[in-house]
Amino acid sequence: MCIAPSKPSTLSTPQHHDDDIVEFLDDDEPPASQLTFDLAAMNFGSPAKAAIKPVKSLAPSSSAKSPTGRTKSTLRAGKRIDVVSEYQKRSAEKESLNLVVIGHVDAGKSTLMGHLLYLQGEVTEKVIRKHERDAQRIGKGSFAFAWVLDETGEERERGITMDVGVTKFETDHRRFTLLDAPGHRDFIPNMISGTAQADVAILVIDATTGEFEAGFLANGQTKEHALLARSLGVQQLVIAINKLDVVGWSEARFLEISEKLQEFLVKEAHFREQNLTFIPCSGFTGENLVRRSKKGSICNGSAVSSATVDATVARVLEEFEWYKGPTLIQTIDQLEAPPRA
Ligand code: GTP
Ligand code: MG
Repeated sequence: MCIAPSKPSTLSTPQHHDDDIVEFLDDDEPPASQLTFDLAAMNFGSPAKAAIKPVKSLAPSSSAKSPTGRTKSTLRAGKRIDVVSEYQKRSAEKESLNLVVIGHVDAGKSTLMGHLLYLQGEVTEKVIRKHERDAQRIGKGSFAFAWVLDETGEERERGITMDVGVTKFETDHRRFTLLDAPGHRDFIPNMISGTAQADVAILVIDATTGEFEAGFLANGQTKEHALLARSLGVQQLVIAINKLDVVGWSEARFLEISEKLQEFLVKEAHFREQNLTFIPCSGFTGENLVRRSKKGSICNGSAVSSATVDATVARVLEEFEWYKGPTLIQTIDQLEAPPRA
């Protein structure tokens, strides 16, 4: 797993394969904006939308046979794309943002984002169930969602992210390239290279008693990651106060962590207060990622079944009732791209 450099646009000159014939209508070199592009390779969005197939039959103007036996009319029916207007049209539809997920080791970054991708329909239940089975086989059952982003054998065996996991997903108004950074300090260089490409960030915090403190104090990565993100140009930060299931969805714990972090992020890391949003959630149960539990429909880790989750969901409705704010997905859907020089 590595940071994939954005693919260069693949300008495809006409190919004369038997099965996929595309030809420009004029003999002259067409203007650059009308070359035939492989839109899927340009990462314009979901492959289903991006795959523009050559239209094979416009009005036939000649019946001359080509060397392949096809009529000339078939050969002349290339689909032309005005790249500039297509790009503008799609850019106007949804803003594209690079989103890095950072935080102390084991804060739950990969689980949170793997679960979010699942809830957004980017990953199927079949895949999650397979991850769950395979993870259980090596004694790592709780990492099923993390395996969506932790793809290498070593990452899975060790239960840590080592390199930045990259994938794409969309919300109602945004198109995200997700960069899932490692929290372990041995892999800080990878975290930096991921964060350097980011427009916005989610800082994931483990709310478990003692774990927030470990991440926040001297040797933890919480402060280090926040400072690095700020110095690498990230201005907007969503702080996911995660694993709230472990602390009984405690409002007091959420407020305590939020206050300490806010003070540090504003005074020492120099984030603007209005650019910070604190969201309570559980990446494991899925609570408040995309929706809230409600009567008869509870966020319970979905594909994942575990005693911890089952015991926790029974109380969630009552204990998390205090929170009236937005979900994580609603929050990131409002993020703005920083102005480019
Ligand atoms: P690194 O990338 O190695 O820094 O770890 P990470 O931050 O990506 O954490 P990861 O997603 O690998 O999760 C670490 C452990 O925390 C796993 O056992 C997860 O199941 C568990 N975990 C993550 N989120 C939650 C949560 O919301 N609640 C509970 N109870 N456990 C969680
Ligand atoms: Mg991880």
